Amino acid sequence: MSETIRITVLVENSVHRQGLVGEHGLCFHIQSGEHSLLFDTGQTDLAVINTETLRLPLHRVEAIVLSHGHYDHTGGVPAMLEVVPEARVYLHPAAFENKFSHNHAGPARKIGMSDCVAQAIRHHAGGFIETTARTEIMEGVFATGEIPRATTYEDTGGAFFLDAEGTRPDPLVDDQALVIDLGRSIVLLLGCAHSGVVNTLNHVWQLTGGKPVSAVIGGLHLGSASEGRIQQTIARLRAAQLEMLAPAHCTSLPATAKLWSAFPDLCRPAGVGTVFEFKRD
Ligand SMILES: [Fe+2]
Ligand SMILES: [Fe+2]
Repeated sequence: MSETIRITVLVENSVHRQGLVGEHGLCFHIQSGEHSLLFDTGQTDLAVINTETLRLPLHRVEAIVLSHGHYDHTGGVPAMLEVVPEARVYLHPAAFENKFSHNHAGPARKIGMSDCVAQAIRHHAGGFIETTARTEIMEGVFATGEIPRATTYEDTGGAFFLDAEGTRPDPLVDDQALVIDLGRSIVLLLGCAHSGVVNTLNHVWQLTGGKPVSAVIGGLHLGSASEGRIQQTIARLRAAQLEMLAPAHCTSLPATAKLWSAFPDLCRPAGVGTVFEFKRD
């Protein structure tokens, strides 16, 4: 009998249903039979609040996978771990590093995880697991670990640094995606895709022996992308023969519009409260 995989958007920049609240950040709740996990946690306790509104059984969350160390993906960890202290946290060790943005004039902005988040991850009951390479989270779900940077036209998507002075660029090696295996195809969840979505798709292709990706959901971080990069990204997504694409969070409005124009039949919104359902063979 086929099993239903249910993905609920708990935090995103936009809102899909009345009564829910959005923020700049991302958090997905993934339900697979009796098992459930989170991919990212948003930047505040909003994921917990939205979960209560949606009446989702949060106490069953067994694992929290963090896509990378940025505050808008990790800030909700302490509030979440108060509810599910036994949940295992999966993250790349570089997610703990100091992270800064110099995107705007003026002083550097601290955009890594706060000390409070790092403490919560390091000291909660469920423990944490470092994901430098592919790591199984539960049956049919794995985190990619580090994603090789092979394309010439993709970068991390911003002026990201490991120091406030802006002398050490942050390669964001902590960036990883979540792969949900449906049997015949893959659902790919992205945090910010700082590795580049094409690099991510190519890596997942390698890791799964060429299994087709049927859906891509999450942030593509294309706000500063050149037109050339956008077009190459669209070409790679077209070659993937997706059945669904939900560009969200940090994709940027102009890039989202281009993706919706390129794939009008495939694109879906992914505001808070959106539910995606997939059948596992
Ligand atoms: Fe983000
Ligand atoms: Fe990010």
